[in-house]
Amino acid sequence: MSQVVRNRGENITTLGVRADFPALQQEINGQPLVYLDSAATAQQPTTVIDAVANYHRHDHANVHRGVHALSHRATEAYEGARDKLQSFINAASRSEIVLTSGTTESVNLVAQSFCRPRIGAGDKILITQLEHHSNIVPWQLVCEQTGAELLIAPIDDSGQIDLDVLRALMTDEVVLMAVGHVSNALGTINPVKDIIAWAKQFDIMVLIDGAQAVPHMAIDVQELGCDFYAFSGHKMFGPTGTGVLYGREALLDAMPPWQGGGDMILEVRLDGTTFNDLPYKFEAGTPNIAGIIGLAAAVDYILDVGFDKIAAHEQDLLTQLTTKLGEIEDIRLIGTSANKASVQSFLLGDIHPHDLGTILDHQGIAIRTGHHCAMPVMEFFGLAGTARASLSLYNDSDDIDRLIAAIEKARQVFA
Ligand code: ALA
Repeated sequence: MSQVVRNRGENITTLGVRADFPALQQEINGQPLVYLDSAATAQQPTTVIDAVANYHRHDHANVHRGVHALSHRATEAYEGARDKLQSFINAASRSEIVLTSGTTESVNLVAQSFCRPRIGAGDKILITQLEHHSNIVPWQLVCEQTGAELLIAPIDDSGQIDLDVLRALMTDEVVLMAVGHVSNALGTINPVKDIIAWAKQFDIMVLIDGAQAVPHMAIDVQELGCDFYAFSGHKMFGPTGTGVLYGREALLDAMPPWQGGGDMILEVRLDGTTFNDLPYKFEAGTPNIAGIIGLAAAVDYILDVGFDKIAAHEQDLLTQLTTKLGEIEDIRLIGTSANKASVQSFLLGDIHPHDLGTILDHQGIAIRTGHHCAMPVMEFFGLAGTARASLSLYNDSDDIDRLIAAIEKARQVFA
């Protein structure tokens, strides 16, 4: 397997990370690909692709079940990934790392296993208008199922949560608050450490949706003080269908299983079942073994590059992007919070974002257009959707210049 070894003194441009991503080395519509859709899914480095292929070629077997060599190797790699993920977010114990199919499953697990058995009429769940649908709909469902009330803190014109209202909505009746760490649609970085501290004054349990944070910044769940932290592998250069639910051990321990099946049991009798220990109690059925092994390689990759270099590079690119976009006639930037990850939503005149996205694709540039699975955010701005460019560690100034030139060309075509 290829292993990247880097000189840690270099910055991200001289590290040459772009060459690590095979999918970026192609032409689209006769032009070199400019990939600006990493908030939807990040490309995968060779080390991740190789880790998955290596498992399929040499170690493919089921985990936790076999006495044979292949099953041992698969189990070792799979459980090794859990250890790596524990250390990646500084969880206190490997029992606190539940491996899931992604953020969506992680949030639904908490809604159904933590909230559903313990809430009812009179209880409240608190979210914000900035959330991705996967941090809204599971709470709507559990409120419908239990009679609990869903409270929603609004956002302001810059795309930040109205923290005064959020704080005012925190009361003893709120059982759980679920807040995104970084907005997928606008890039806003929320002050989650402060938000968690406020919630704790009312003993509110806190889930942080970290899907858009994990590729950009080091996460320390103990320092944050959250109760649950959910994230996906494919936003952080790992395979799709992988993710993590971090939960404080005492909470996970008290929660009933989420799904029933193989591997989540200690003993099954026809008159009842005893469940497995943490975290296996929440991992029914054969998991995405190859994907989780790939996710471990993604963790290695990120740590090898280093969050200090990633953050410096992405913030520099974001400044270039917003400055140059702002110089284009008829551009409206949506999401202008001071503290942002490298994501920028925008509109060009009255051109429909899908039309703009299609014209950019013809020039080899991939952006996302539409509501970004955040319709309440779009509703706040009175929009059906936006165009969104999201930058990652493998983007550079040339990508931004290509985007700006292509938008300028689109503007002239539509004029
Ligand atoms: N949540 C993903 C996005 O923001 C799909 O594009």
